[in-house]
Amino acid sequence: MAAADRPGTPGRVPGPLRAAAALAGAGLAAGAGLGAWGVVVERRRFQLRTEHLRLLPPGSAPLRILHLSDLHVWPGQRAVREFVHSLAALRPDLVVDTGDNLSHPEALPALLEILEPLLAFRGAYVPGSNCYFGPRPKNPFRYLWRDTSGEGRDEAPRLPTGAMHAAFDAAGWTPLINRAARLEVAGHVLDLSGVDDPHLGYDRHPGFLDTPGAALRLGVAHAPYLRTLDRFAADGADLVLAGHTHGGQVCLPGGRALVSNCDLEPRRCKGLITQGGVPVNVSAGLGTSRFAPIRLFCPPEAVLLTLTD
Ligand SMILES: [Fe+2]
Repeated sequence: MAAADRPGTPGRVPGPLRAAAALAGAGLAAGAGLGAWGVVVERRRFQLRTEHLRLLPPGSAPLRILHLSDLHVWPGQRAVREFVHSLAALRPDLVVDTGDNLSHPEALPALLEILEPLLAFRGAYVPGSNCYFGPRPKNPFRYLWRDTSGEGRDEAPRLPTGAMHAAFDAAGWTPLINRAARLEVAGHVLDLSGVDDPHLGYDRHPGFLDTPGAALRLGVAHAPYLRTLDRFAADGADLVLAGHTHGGQVCLPGGRALVSNCDLEPRRCKGLITQGGVPVNVSAGLGTSRFAPIRLFCPPEAVLLTLTD
């Protein structure tokens, strides 16, 4: 046997090390493949989640609410535009946008093009932090290990918040920025109450108007902090809509979230949950920050809620 072929001889890698190297290589390749899947496929694997809730008074006709959140638009996104345009065929009675609409200071025209067919329907909206401040490239995944709620907004690029809200208002959508409103939709009287983004600490609850004969009290917020959900419950909400969590965005197989980016437990950070006895729809959102364009085991979603008696 030549010296180089003998076990433990310089020039030959021992068997266990070769196996470990092969395993590490396979792990890296699998990780890279998973990452590529998350960037190229998963974040464009748009879903329509449907929910049915018996919340309306006896004898009421159904009410269909389309809930959108966390579009995080930057210029040139074709796939999300096609998906959102397809939602117009649902002909919702009300569209509710729970914020984080932009991810680039010049993305307002692209956002309005994406939303264009839905702006023809009745709508209501609240802003998220990414309606005010743009993302920055450093540490886009820092939300995975730390609280980002108080981070240096002074350094963040300002987004065209006023122009965006003016466009929504011009389309007839109702702003719910620390504001209550009464809306008549498809023969239903709705009491709406919304807050500015709790993630930024901008939330000031207005309560509900307590309109006589209202069929539904709907609370709307971007970030589902527990204080926000509990306050809506205390105010008498029948249903709350929120976004912000991205459903965990980068999840374990099976969709288990590791983080919620707020104080809501990660296991409850997407889907229909209950807080204080009130159903809360937490949207996993439609987008990602442009500096972290990846989703894993957490596809983007819009939600159609059908409310009946
Ligand atoms: Fe977001």
